[in-house]
Amino acid sequence: LDRQPFLGAHQAGIVTAQPAAALFVALDVLAEDRGELAKLFRILTERFAFLTEGGPVPVLDPRLPPADSGILGPRVLPDNLTATLAVGASLFDDRYGLAGAAPRHLRPMDRFPNDSLDGKLCHGDLLLQFCANTAETTLHALRDVIRHTPGLVSLRWKLEGMLPPHVVKRQGQDTVRNFLGFKDGTANLDARDDALMRRQVWVQPGSGEPSWAAGGSYQVVRIIRNFVERWDRTPLREQERIFGRHKDSGAPLGASDEHALPDYAADPAGTRTPMDAHIRLANPRTPETASSLILRRGYNYSAGITPSGQLDMGLIFVCYQADLDAGFVAVQNRLNGEPLEEYIKPVGGGYFYALPGLPETGGFLGQGLL
Ligand code: HEM
Repeated sequence: LDRQPFLGAHQAGIVTAQPAAALFVALDVLAEDRGELAKLFRILTERFAFLTEGGPVPVLDPRLPPADSGILGPRVLPDNLTATLAVGASLFDDRYGLAGAAPRHLRPMDRFPNDSLDGKLCHGDLLLQFCANTAETTLHALRDVIRHTPGLVSLRWKLEGMLPPHVVKRQGQDTVRNFLGFKDGTANLDARDDALMRRQVWVQPGSGEPSWAAGGSYQVVRIIRNFVERWDRTPLREQERIFGRHKDSGAPLGASDEHALPDYAADPAGTRTPMDAHIRLANPRTPETASSLILRRGYNYSAGITPSGQLDMGLIFVCYQADLDAGFVAVQNRLNGEPLEEYIKPVGGGYFYALPGLPETGGFLGQGLL
């Protein structure tokens, strides 16, 4: 039960229920040519398949370095691991002759007005997303991949994320709290709804994207710092008006059930839910904005302390959509200037394209592209 299938029309880790631990690592590719790039993708595919399936670590001649870091012991357990491979816009520069093959919306991440991006936390030729029950498993996976790809990649940035483990059972059903203390994910898309996922998340054949891209999805990652010290000194009523939801129950303002639907048509002046509340701007629930529905799959992060002595914690916001501009970009443009901005600062991340899945053994992720 704690094994996520690696093979499939789509990669695991996108509509998969979220386990408690995540690790995002951006890599730059050092491969000399397209042949070496294909070798890299083949190795990544093999390692992902082994790590998610689990199994005994081969025993080598003790005069050699051991075959595995050993941090999970002599037998690797799957521990619900998913490993998801996405490509960034820079992979399509002139190095590998792939310029004509890029997904049509893929580009370096846009800069939004509230962003204060740190170049050392942005972009990357590749993004690897590891999710598992425990942080040890995600770190083991990263060490395994690094060990098997010498000279082929260099590490660009990495960030680990967490969610409270006890309530994470089914994505879109059980909601957990972010580091501002609010339930996050309440109104997320139901990832078990295949028709909805086909419409909003998975790139379809004939959608104007290159044919190799069908079955993939645009992945947006935003590292968003939360000013938690300031937040913790903000009145509860103010906090609730900023999001448009009650803090204890997660219900829309004025309701008591978390999953009650806010009725904005009955509140045209924003008496109950302010017009600039996060949820109202993010999803005005009008027919015209239905195209901007996105699948969110974020994690909380806690790093160190900032140079000015504040806690460096926040949200690794992650979302998937079939159309980057109709999805994330449209939502973020509506959110620009929202009152929540006083308490958050996007500092990094990037736009990526999660490759289509590998339906059967024998091939490798990204084969259609190369
Ligand atoms: C909803 C928090 C950033 C898009 C919510 C909710 C919370 C929340 C508490 C209400 C519960 C829920 O439905 O999940 C945050 C925090 C953020 C952040 C703390 C930054 C640190 C973003 C960003 C986007 C976004 C960057 C996209 C550009 C959404 C959407 C909803 C939502 C689409 C659902 C609205 C609905 O359907 O009613 N967020 N969010 N959020 N957020 Fe965010």
